[in-house]
Amino acid sequence: MSKIVLLGGDGIGPEVVAEAIRVLEVVNQRYGLGIDVEEHLIGGSAIDATGEPLPETTLKAAKNADAVLLGAVGGPKWDLLPMTSRPEKGLLKIRAGMNLFANLRPALLYPELASASSLKPDIVSGLDLLIVRELIGGIYFGEPRGIEGPPGQRVGFNTDRYSEPEIERIGRVAFDAANRRSKKLCSVDKANVLEVTVLWREVMMSLSPEYPEVELSHMYVDNAAMQLIKAPKQFDVMVTGNLFGDILSDAAAMLTGSIGMLPSASLNSDKQGLYEPCHGSAPDIAGRDLANPLATILSVAMMLHHSLNESKAALAINNAVKSVLSAGYRTQDIASGDSGEELVGCHAIGDAVVDLLSKG
Ligand code: IPM
Ligand code: MG
Repeated sequence: MSKIVLLGGDGIGPEVVAEAIRVLEVVNQRYGLGIDVEEHLIGGSAIDATGEPLPETTLKAAKNADAVLLGAVGGPKWDLLPMTSRPEKGLLKIRAGMNLFANLRPALLYPELASASSLKPDIVSGLDLLIVRELIGGIYFGEPRGIEGPPGQRVGFNTDRYSEPEIERIGRVAFDAANRRSKKLCSVDKANVLEVTVLWREVMMSLSPEYPEVELSHMYVDNAAMQLIKAPKQFDVMVTGNLFGDILSDAAAMLTGSIGMLPSASLNSDKQGLYEPCHGSAPDIAGRDLANPLATILSVAMMLHHSLNESKAALAINNAVKSVLSAGYRTQDIASGDSGEELVGCHAIGDAVVDLLSKG
């Protein structure tokens, strides 16, 4: 019996999670997975109901679960709240509370969507890269932090820090991932300016002899951003810290045509994980059946693979998503206007995936 905690969150979060759950229920039955789901609150909807972006009951349930499936958090309604009580704080707290240090963000271009990318098809076709982002350290969590001083003279500050053990554990996840893929790992830093990343580079280099088959390279983050747009296929696995990973993963996402297609996994050392689409809560399209649920559906596949050891069911979901794209179904974010496409809403594209899976 596996326990999954569902956190719909805000904006389009509940809509995309609803479709993903229908998909999970189908594979649960088909493959006899014995999955039990339990819903909880996070983000703005949790603030409205309890005053807290991450209620204690949510964190407790998440820690006791095998995996968590999350939609998205945040929205204009809560934008004026102080930093410490915003919806995003709920997300940062659950990442830290579950010790989810390893964030895997694959960027895969489906051939059917090549024309949805803003880059020329020959630059992106066949793109398949993985960003491994450290998720609970660096400048996001470093102390001291704050805004201090008298009005007009205030100073805002944050601290970017990584310890050797923190760098080592994310480094190992990245080397292992590279070992399973094309054995190329690029570590992204700013070692020409920032000491924290000088240490980062040193630790990555010190791990390298343990993975003789993996070819390790290093790149400054500004160049990495440029190279991602110029020649993204030079990369296979990239590993970087929290802030650089946040930025580069959005850039990588867009190479694939739509951020609405990209799943992610955040893992701790017990294989417990939080799975979420890379996109945000998109308040502008919330509640209108316009969102693309495929990133969340693909997140379910990542969950089955990484936390539940159910790779067969995961593969079935990935294949069903591919078939739905081949059949021409498109939500608005991935539509190119070509004939042969059928523009559908969130629920209908979810239906298409569910139908395929229930037929087997
Ligand atoms: C992400 C998001 C979050 C982050 C925000 C919502 C706190 O941008 O998951 O990439 O910065 O990590
Ligand atoms: Mg981000």
